[in-house]
Amino acid sequence: MKAIVYTEYGPPEVARLKDVPKPVPKENEVLVKVYASTVNRTDAGFRSAEYFISRFWSGLLRPKFQVLGSEFAGVVDEIGQQVTTFKRGDRVFGFNDRTFGGHGEYLTIAEADAIATMPDNINFEQAAASTEGSHYALVDIRAAKVQRGQDVLVYGATGAIGSAAVQLLKQMGATVTAVCNTKNVELVKSLGADVVIDYQTQDFTRTETKFHFIFDAVGKSSFGQCKPLLTEKGIYISTELGKNAENVLLAITTPIRGGKKVLFPLPTITKEDVLFLKGLLEKGEFKPVIDRTYTLDQIVEAYKYVESGQKVGNVVLKIVE
Ligand SMILES: NC(=O)c1ccc[n+]([C@@H]2O[C@H](COP(=O)([O-])OP(=O)(O)OC[C@H]3O[C@@H](n4cnc5c(N)ncnc54)[C@H](OP(=O)(O)O)[C@@H]3O)[C@@H](O)[C@H]2O)c1
Repeated sequence: MKAIVYTEYGPPEVARLKDVPKPVPKENEVLVKVYASTVNRTDAGFRSAEYFISRFWSGLLRPKFQVLGSEFAGVVDEIGQQVTTFKRGDRVFGFNDRTFGGHGEYLTIAEADAIATMPDNINFEQAAASTEGSHYALVDIRAAKVQRGQDVLVYGATGAIGSAAVQLLKQMGATVTAVCNTKNVELVKSLGADVVIDYQTQDFTRTETKFHFIFDAVGKSSFGQCKPLLTEKGIYISTELGKNAENVLLAITTPIRGGKKVLFPLPTITKEDVLFLKGLLEKGEFKPVIDRTYTLDQIVEAYKYVESGQKVGNVVLKIVE
């Protein structure tokens, strides 16, 4: 089968289109014929090993799993002997940042992992783009224990995480203020944001509203900058470590002191999360934003675009035309 393979950590060019053996499902696994995947910041992070710590999962010297692609959507092609909840021909989607595989024509994944049948009302590209940004957003929103009616600020509402966060928060009944650039104001309004701050013409730190939760979905702000905007027990979460990894340190110290605090939840995803997202997709309460679509032979270009930090929502990798 054809797959994008990387045998060493490094720049986008280490990812090459190759012929590799088709994986064989174990007894508890399904073999999925992949129709679409995405190229996202998770794939880019593991490929570059930008944070050395990622190598403790992906292989200290070289990658253990050489076909990346954390998100996938496709059709079940074969099932292991013990598999009971999927059958051949099921349209499925999901997320796998342990063994990956979405950047190949076939992947295997355990039946019990983050995989579910696809909603009928979306296509493979949309399904493929439904789990990465959204599950990071979900973990952080749940950690902040957002309640109906609370004011939340999403900084960087146009990334995969930010665009999902705005929709998930609205679905939970929060009042959302979203920060983005001029050209994406209408898009962010269409995602449901109640107030949109255009960072090119307005300074978000001057807003009068006090927020229960400030979610920096692009990791470009700091707790110090956002603290005055938080309510007395307001919570700040960023998707990045911050300067000198301050967000991790603050997540240890600020909860002890009481008052305004930083949290740094570790991302997780389960089958239940995929089923939760499936429910929202079926009801039209979550629609992944798709920016560009690339094919396997354009992988280097796709990575370069994703790593420019300019993508709006998600970048799809189309495997089957
Ligand atoms: N290491 C990992 O495994 C990993 C995995 C997932 C995510 N992350 C991190 O999570 C963050 C978000 O990732 P993502 O995929 O959702 O999106 P992304 O690709 O980082 O976000 C791109 C969007 O953010 C906007 N943006 C950039 N700078 C901004 C600023 N200063 N203010 C407001 N908007 C800004 C961009 O629009 P404009 O610049 O045009 O405004 C663009 O639409 C990234 O920092 C990423 O590194 C890391």
